[in-house]
Amino acid sequence: MDLNLKKEQLLKSLQGKLPSETILSHQEDCSHYGGDWTRMTGDPLLVFLPKTTEQVSEILKSCQKIKIPVIPSGGRTGLSGGAVVTSNEVVLNLSKMNQISPVDTLGRTVRVQAGAVNEDVHEHCAKEGLLWPIDLASKGTCEIGGNLATNAGGVRVIRYGMARKWVSGLQIVTMNGDIIELNRGLEKNNTGYDLIQLMVGSEGTLAVITEATLKLVRLPQKEKVLFFSLPSLQAISSFFESARKGPFEILAFEFFSQKCLSAVENKLKRKSKLQKGAQFYVLMEIELGIGVEAEQKLDDWLNSILEKEFVQDGLMAQSSEEKKEVWSLREGITESIALTNEVRKYDTSVAVNKTVEFVTEAEKLFQSMNLLAELYLFGHFGDGSPHLNVVRKDSADHKTFVQDCERFEAELYPLIKKWGGSASSEHGVGLLKKSWVEFSRTPQELSLFKAIKSAFDPQGLLNPGKIFSM
Ligand code: MLT
Ligand code: ZN
Repeated sequence: MDLNLKKEQLLKSLQGKLPSETILSHQEDCSHYGGDWTRMTGDPLLVFLPKTTEQVSEILKSCQKIKIPVIPSGGRTGLSGGAVVTSNEVVLNLSKMNQISPVDTLGRTVRVQAGAVNEDVHEHCAKEGLLWPIDLASKGTCEIGGNLATNAGGVRVIRYGMARKWVSGLQIVTMNGDIIELNRGLEKNNTGYDLIQLMVGSEGTLAVITEATLKLVRLPQKEKVLFFSLPSLQAISSFFESARKGPFEILAFEFFSQKCLSAVENKLKRKSKLQKGAQFYVLMEIELGIGVEAEQKLDDWLNSILEKEFVQDGLMAQSSEEKKEVWSLREGITESIALTNEVRKYDTSVAVNKTVEFVTEAEKLFQSMNLLAELYLFGHFGDGSPHLNVVRKDSADHKTFVQDCERFEAELYPLIKKWGGSASSEHGVGLLKKSWVEFSRTPQELSLFKAIKSAFDPQGLLNPGKIFSM
């Protein structure tokens, strides 16, 4: 059927069921919703901005009836193209559903709508001394629905794990319009399959998340931010070994290369306060016990570390302002390299104790290929989640860059497989990594994926073509 005809039919079918301000139909208004942070974009047939779960249900029911594919979307900060429009699908954007209920301090949970912004949830819960532990560089924009649909990770996975650990209830709407409550916020429910865990990480391919009950923890009582320069990846690993035995709990253990720091310093005009630079940097955030004794133990540990040859220089942030400054070096990397030039991101994953060997080999591979591109290395060292960012050199045009990246990928993914790793540690598969899923998943797993997809969405209308093709 002709697209315009479908559009008319859909609008007719929804007449009287949705307030007019929840529908965008002019191309200029719609195109804003066609893409995400990958810069891939497409033209949506229509965009819906529902305010209630019932409206979501009506939209999905009508789309199913007329057989119009739907792309669920939120803050659109994704890095794999999971929310990108590819062939004039309808966009169902949940950003207007952003309510946050009062915190249940007894149960340590909070109920939020899918469009609640991650940072708003943090601020809301902090008033009760509680925390939803998923902390991302995109926290000011990304939304809870997307955090859960992509099983977001971020900078504190080493301490708290991924998003999937921090949810005890979901309200979802399936493509046929059914509104289903999953698990009702129960801490314990041992009655069969865990459908919440199936939804988390499904990238909007099974159902639309409309609300979530999030599990909370106490805010860390005493956080310290430390920053070190180190000469090599091996030095980071030795340092990590010592930190694991340190008198504190590690909240974040992030690394980045000198190239990344230079990009942040040059593009964003931020400055490292370390006296001596080096090939690599580590930002470590820790939680310290209360009392003078804990401080003393930390000082002793720090002094012993600074004497070791694997640390070039180090500092501990002395105020909340300084903590922010140090974090802004790490959090500015994505933005500054995007300002440098076109970027391809590889959020690889290997066992923590294989990180150094894997990254060393991947770096060697990159150098041996003489691409017209540069490699920026950073990521979550403590989770075995190094991010390889390939950035176009000015001397290459877009086409050459894409070809270079394709050549690199063809060698990188087998390397990831060789090291028993995964094609995506946290950004998800979306469109960008779709051809490489089989390097991380067996054929048996993929056929189960397809069977599950068919059970939820037999006509294949929800976020079609993402993660895998049917
Ligand atoms: C990060 O670690 O900063 C995020 O995964 C975003 C990125 O890789 O650019
Ligand atoms: Zn990351």
